[in-house]
Amino acid sequence: TEIYTSGLAGRRPAVPTDPDRLEGAARKKMSREAFAYVAGGAGSESTVRANRVAFERWRIVPRVLRGVAGREVSVELFGRRLPAPLLLAPVGVLEAAHREADVAVARAAARLGVPLVFSSQASRPMEECAAAMGDAPRWFQLYWSTSDELVESFVARAERCGCEAIVLTLDTTMLGWRPRDLDLASLPFLRGRGIAQYTSDPVFRRALDRPLPPSGGRPAVNLSTLRALVGLARRYPGGFLENLRSGEPLAAVRRFIATYSRTSLRWEDLAFLCERTRLPVLLKGILHPEDARLALEHGVDGVIVSNHGGRQVDGAIAALDALPGVVEAVDGRVPVLFDSGVRGGADIFKALALGATAVCLGRPYVYGLALAGEKGVAEVVENVLAEFDLTMGLAGCRSVAEISRDLLVPAPGTP
Ligand code: FNR
Repeated sequence: TEIYTSGLAGRRPAVPTDPDRLEGAARKKMSREAFAYVAGGAGSESTVRANRVAFERWRIVPRVLRGVAGREVSVELFGRRLPAPLLLAPVGVLEAAHREADVAVARAAARLGVPLVFSSQASRPMEECAAAMGDAPRWFQLYWSTSDELVESFVARAERCGCEAIVLTLDTTMLGWRPRDLDLASLPFLRGRGIAQYTSDPVFRRALDRPLPPSGGRPAVNLSTLRALVGLARRYPGGFLENLRSGEPLAAVRRFIATYSRTSLRWEDLAFLCERTRLPVLLKGILHPEDARLALEHGVDGVIVSNHGGRQVDGAIAALDALPGVVEAVDGRVPVLFDSGVRGGADIFKALALGATAVCLGRPYVYGLALAGEKGVAEVVENVLAEFDLTMGLAGCRSVAEISRDLLVPAPGTP
């Protein structure tokens, strides 16, 4: 109602309401490299497209005369009442979109009470974001480093920052094949903007500050690694830089890159994480029902059905198509969250009707950030929530609990 009323009063919105126009406006505003990084996906981007097509294949069948005044869109998740079944997905390298990066997003999220999931690849340390959020809800997303000590340190910091859950992302133990970024050779430039959680970490700093092996046997290193190193050294002087002067630079690069992510991670390793935190642990990037079963067997507290917005496996199943299988496997034992392709309120409705407990919003809020900083993020989220509330009411639901599977049918012509 507020959005309509302020529109009548002549207030000009800071961001386009339509998701495609939102993306188009952000494309004009952002640098070529930044837009390519945010919008792009893996390979031919068939999964990016499939994520949207999957939503188109479901139709809502509204019910009438159900008394939908005084609707309730709030939900409870891990003992916390949220204003809506919506979170802001962890997105790294936000500085590529806006100078204020994660802090602007944190302020917008806090203003609306919508939880923000801090990314492991953030442009600002989680402490800075937490300080901007008061007691508004936030979670932490973890990429599992090769260093257990660093994993422990990240988790301990997240707890101290008031994070209420740990999201372990499993679909990105290696970066996907991203032609747009490769063709612009922009990854080194971008990655330097997504290392704030690391460079602000005492364990990580200690590792970097350890004396390097003296120069001698020179390992092969490619140009982009060298560029990443230069970017890193420029942005984070101090012990690391001194080390570079006295030691072997290539060893420093290798040490930095080697801590990033543990490709060898297995189901057995989860116990290490679960034992070290009192917070609920969710697994992000679950698509196969069998993995959902294994997740439950290993005692996790929730799963997030996601294909990382089509950025990892080109040709992967659309996230929405994977949702019903995971929901069936989980069978109500833990919350099933969903992301990848959510662009508007009707999408949230469809995901919930297919069994999701809540959804995460990704790219759209990044476009809002690029266009108008904190205000842009807040407006994008408000628009999505307003559309969700309207869709829910117009479909005949008074509360989120009333959104049920029987309100959806496959679009005609869908196999
Ligand atoms: C992401 N995503 C992501 N996920 C994660 O767990 N850690 C991260 O650091 C990032 N970084 C990131 C950067 C950018 C630019 C994008 C677009 C995405 C994935 C994100 O959490 C979410 O799964 C997707 O954004 C969902 O897809 P849509 O809805 O944005 O298309």
